[in-house]
Amino acid sequence: MTADALVIFGITGDLAHKMTFRSLYRLEAAGLLDCPIIGVALEDWSHDHLVASLREALRTAGEEVAAGPLERLARRLSYLRGDFTDPATYQALSALLEGAARPLFYLEIPPSLFGPVVEALAAAGLTAHATVMLEKPFGHDLASARALNARLHRVLPEDRILRIDHFLGKQPVLDIQFLRFANSLLEPVWNRDHVAAVQITMAEDFGVEDRGAFYDPVGALRDVVQNHLLQVLALVAMEAPVGPGPDALWDRRVDVFRATAGVDPAHCLRGQYEGYLDVPGVKSDSVTETYVELGLEVDNWRWSGVPFSLRAGKALAARATEVRVVFKRPPRLAFLDQPAHPDANELVLRIDPDPALRLGMLSKEASGRSARSVHLSLSFAAELGRPPEPYERLLNDALTGDRSLFTRQDVVEETWRVIQPLVDHPPTPVPYARGTWGPTPGLGRTTWRPPWLSSPHP
Ligand code: BG6
Repeated sequence: MTADALVIFGITGDLAHKMTFRSLYRLEAAGLLDCPIIGVALEDWSHDHLVASLREALRTAGEEVAAGPLERLARRLSYLRGDFTDPATYQALSALLEGAARPLFYLEIPPSLFGPVVEALAAAGLTAHATVMLEKPFGHDLASARALNARLHRVLPEDRILRIDHFLGKQPVLDIQFLRFANSLLEPVWNRDHVAAVQITMAEDFGVEDRGAFYDPVGALRDVVQNHLLQVLALVAMEAPVGPGPDALWDRRVDVFRATAGVDPAHCLRGQYEGYLDVPGVKSDSVTETYVELGLEVDNWRWSGVPFSLRAGKALAARATEVRVVFKRPPRLAFLDQPAHPDANELVLRIDPDPALRLGMLSKEASGRSARSVHLSLSFAAELGRPPEPYERLLNDALTGDRSLFTRQDVVEETWRVIQPLVDHPPTPVPYARGTWGPTPGLGRTTWRPPWLSSPHP
């Protein structure tokens, strides 16, 4: 169902500046926008101010801008000043939406306002055929996620609620199911008979910077593990979907979490980088983690016994988000003069930066008789071209009624269940120096391989 109007609550905010304007511009330039766009926020902005903000956002993003699409987008935009808690805002919106039968409401606003805004839209008679798209975070624990779902469902059916997780719009994340199920080379070895461990890393080489007020009540676990990294894990571990359509895919993802017990806090590590307490907006005695490491087991026939290790942190040594599948080690190479176990093969899917794939192999050295590590690697951009940005893709999907990349209710609740023990019993964070790989010594349960940082094409 294609939307016939887009209403963006919070259009004056940071996310709109960093992501939304650029995505809208790209969709406009590609000829994919076909409806009016109304921005709603409390600031006293005019249409001219909104368009100036659009131009500034595109300039900051370094976007190459052509006059035609920019003018078309500017004409499409209008601005409504309003308090989200005031019924008059919704009456004014209703007047602006006259003639729109299937509006898409995009809520880029603090999560505490999701419930009230959706209820106010319903009270104003605006939700009969509307879809609502919500930014993260969706809840701050299992109970609040359930409560929010229940509140939204009183007004909207599940198929008209779109929960954003921008990782699901990243090309290499989307590619996981293709790599796994379109390549008969990989699928037969993608299980506990052949895989020794799966390591998922999300390392960022910058700190919390100007997001202290947002980040401090949240921390690394809620910010990127409950959503982004668990979604990646689900794609790595799930069975093949048995049909087209969003639910076939979400059915297989939810199976993964149902087979996964709640995390054991004794097997988790939390860290906080030195200097975090000086970040504006952070409480002076904060025990929020900026680094977290945990181990999970997907206890089903495919994965039982294979450790899935996840880590995420800010102010680390490098920016690197990757999935590393470590295969079982081959037996001793008895035909060598000094027989030894070769290293295990590893398949690395790099999600950020520079999405790429690398398979580590062992080969005979050019001279001599020992085995040496070599790599087969590919860069997705070099082979397949530039993909749409995640937000560009997700906005287009939302406008055209494709729910595949928006997290389903049961999956959100399952991910919260899996991490809830750590939310309830967080170990004290261990300090670590900026620019390192987190607290040392680590947990000792996982021997983390250093992330793949080099270019796929030396
Ligand atoms: C966001 C988190 O969801 O994802 C940020 O709130 C994080 O803390 C960001 O930096 C990372 O996303 P990306 O796409 O820049 O890797």
